[in-house]
Amino acid sequence: MGIYDKGFLWGGALAANQCEGAWNEDGKGVSVADMLPGIERKKYRNNYKDLLDTKFDYYPSRKSIDFYHHYKEDISLFAEMGFTCLRISIAWTRIYPDGDDRLPNEKGLRFYDDVFDECIKYGIQPLVTISHFEMPYNLVKKYNGWSNKVLIDLYERYARTLFNRYKKKVKWWITFNEVNAVPAKPDYDAGALYNNEHERKETGYQCLHNMCVAAAKTVKLCHEIIPEGRIGCMIQYSPVYPYSSHPEDVQLAMELERERELFAMHLQAKGVYPYYAKRMFGENNINLDITEDERLILKNNTVDFISFSYYMSLVHGRKELQVESTEGNKFGGMKNPYLESTGWGWQIDPKGLRYSLNRLYELFEKPLFIVENGIGADEKLVNDTVIDDYRIDYHKTHIHEMKEAIKDGVDVLGYTMWSPLDIVSNSTGEMKKRYGFIYVDVNDDGSGTFKRYKKKSFYWYKEVIRTNGEKLDG
Ligand code: BG6
Repeated sequence: MGIYDKGFLWGGALAANQCEGAWNEDGKGVSVADMLPGIERKKYRNNYKDLLDTKFDYYPSRKSIDFYHHYKEDISLFAEMGFTCLRISIAWTRIYPDGDDRLPNEKGLRFYDDVFDECIKYGIQPLVTISHFEMPYNLVKKYNGWSNKVLIDLYERYARTLFNRYKKKVKWWITFNEVNAVPAKPDYDAGALYNNEHERKETGYQCLHNMCVAAAKTVKLCHEIIPEGRIGCMIQYSPVYPYSSHPEDVQLAMELERERELFAMHLQAKGVYPYYAKRMFGENNINLDITEDERLILKNNTVDFISFSYYMSLVHGRKELQVESTEGNKFGGMKNPYLESTGWGWQIDPKGLRYSLNRLYELFEKPLFIVENGIGADEKLVNDTVIDDYRIDYHKTHIHEMKEAIKDGVDVLGYTMWSPLDIVSNSTGEMKKRYGFIYVDVNDDGSGTFKRYKKKSFYWYKEVIRTNGEKLDG
């Protein structure tokens, strides 16, 4: 049988706002993602309010790659690769168009029924993210997003609707995508605006708290409505290495990793604030509204598993070293002289995946699920395909390190790469940052035939799944 257990899940991951399109069809409401432009979004990194108030020529999420009308064809391609799992997210605005509507939108619910039926037809288990960067825009305008506790009830109601509707079809659930980045970016990730740096931090942690309470309530609901269901949190994890063995670099790297990545995981996996929160909040004058009831909810409803995205490792240390910086997923860092980077400056570190799996398992002792891992590249179709050897190499080396971690004794539930189809990039809004095993003929401005083409990596991954991860060399 090899190293992987029979039930190990192999597949790919997508997010509604980056693939579905059909932004105003069948009763769907407007989400924050529908208001984000293409490459211009980078210019507004620190000014979300202006971003949402400005009119742009093109909004990539509104059309994306039109998975909404291509899902049958796309899922059949995933089946051809042998997927046993497909991670997708549900667009909140298809189910509750304004987030606070009285009744759910039947047409939206039906769409996901059809998507899940299609997966199940091929023996693909859906792994569903309840919210992946696309909250209803109305909740931003009306309540200042997750800074308002009203959203806890609205989210809980949304989750209840999903569990009741899909309880026979979906066993695997994730509450929020990459919730750990909320304290740093409450505007982008939680729809909450602020006026100054102190307010950003305080609002950010209040949003994180509210989201974690909502998530814990959702864990409880899931267990009540779907007894055999399994529900996890999702974190963007990039281990932070110290720049050098200088003790100050070690301390700074530890602190940064705690703040950005481990804090949110702790809250959901252990159900309490980490011991270092008191000092961190005290020194930053952060005062949160946390009730005793909420503490209990968090404590009693920890997640069944921890899922995370892994794209890179980061390096951090003393400012005075003036080390060249690198781009990163949610966060950049110092350049690591030992690593190569992608065309978008993300440092490639397969060994960091084995390290990450061991580190998280040791810290939290919960099963782990790698729900994103991949490489974005600018590619051109030649003879109806792309010879993407660098992508094969990226996944091969990462899967190899995952296997080493499993041999180390880490409990890994599955691997869903990002993303089987080329889709809209979250950070840049581009189409040309392509991750897929399947090329989708759509350009940055939304032009194109929307046709799908298999890349070389498509056949490689098919063989990996067929041999349950044993054959990585093609
Ligand atoms: C993860 C997100 O952070 O990284 C995805 O969950 C995102 O939504 C992925 O697409 C890759 O990032 P990007 O910016 O290259 O699309």
